[in-house]
Amino acid sequence: MNQLNNPTAQAVDNTLIYIFGFSLLLLLGITLVTIYFVIKYRRSKYPEPTSDAHGSWILETVWTVLPIIIVMTMFWYGWTNYIGLTQVPDNAMEVKATARMWSWQFEYPDGRKTDKLYVPVDKPVKVLLHSADVIHSFFAPAFRIKKDCVPGMETYVWFKATEPGSYDVQCAEYCGVGHAAMLTTIEVLPAAEYADWAKPQQADQEPRGLTVLNEQGCIGCHSLDGSDGVGPSLYQLAGKEQEVEKDGKSIEIKIDADYLKRSIREPNAEIVEGFQPMMPAYDQSTINDADLQAVVDYLLGKATAAKAGPDGATLIKENGCLGCHSTDGSESIAPTFKGLGGRQVTVESDGKEITITVDADYLRRSLLKPNADIVKGFSPMMPAADNLSPEEIDAIVNYLLKQ
Ligand code: CUA
Repeated sequence: MNQLNNPTAQAVDNTLIYIFGFSLLLLLGITLVTIYFVIKYRRSKYPEPTSDAHGSWILETVWTVLPIIIVMTMFWYGWTNYIGLTQVPDNAMEVKATARMWSWQFEYPDGRKTDKLYVPVDKPVKVLLHSADVIHSFFAPAFRIKKDCVPGMETYVWFKATEPGSYDVQCAEYCGVGHAAMLTTIEVLPAAEYADWAKPQQADQEPRGLTVLNEQGCIGCHSLDGSDGVGPSLYQLAGKEQEVEKDGKSIEIKIDADYLKRSIREPNAEIVEGFQPMMPAYDQSTINDADLQAVVDYLLGKATAAKAGPDGATLIKENGCLGCHSTDGSESIAPTFKGLGGRQVTVESDGKEITITVDADYLRRSLLKPNADIVKGFSPMMPAADNLSPEEIDAIVNYLLKQ
């Protein structure tokens, strides 16, 4: 298994070996001949010049033409392989990489974002390079690719991994104090594993509860839009007051999770006013407890609410916050996230030292104007998180308060 057995690494390595090989050959050849002549024609043995040769056109032609050929083959070899690094195969998948102080973010065509670059094995990948602030450089040594990420300009590299594994990526252009921390990896996955990873996430699919309602044919009798059918509509049930008939008596109940579960497991115990007791009971073998809960969540409007909000834990990872801030209490370039909510910190604000308690307002300010209040002992170097939406900022703040 040779992990360097990939097209870009081979192109670069072959060129290097060719040029280095010839250079070594010439260095050794010239050095050895020099040493040989120095010894052979030393002054103690030959005090006077011995040669009476005044020219040899054969010799001069050879030492002119041969080096030209060698140098031109070096050029040709280097040029064709350089062109190979810029010509992306047609079937390449595209991923956008954004460098910012001091982290990498990768964005896939379906919109998902990660802090590591996940790719399938044996598939050419074109990486579109962007920078959010200063010049960085995308360097993946195992693929022999390195290209600057320039603000306001799109550059690219491509590679094809032939072995699954984890390959280092680092920033190769000094970009500030966190430059050395700008490390990530290219995670090359076997095709099946990648397909699994790239599957649309649960959040993008229809809620499980709705799927169950459709699969079990509930929609045949119960509408989702408020219109009457054979059974009561399922439109906006949460908290609704409902007249039902129970044991021959008419009572009023409030629709909640318990009531909904009961009306699926024992549908004829309580009959909604104006309808007939004709719904079959759905027991554990037809709708298991997890699916029952999913249906109830969906009917009470919880399933949609749960999938909408951005997730703070994911956001701080995607946006590279963890490059400088730890979550385990260790201090590095920046204060740790551990125990953040309610922590007393001494900050420097407008040249004065003040002690404040970390709360939502402070965290929001630190994200949007990170250099306004600097925690004592740290340097003002965090970039503003102005690429995030207000909802995302809130999600991060809520997450951090719980750390
Ligand atoms: Cu980014 Cu060095």
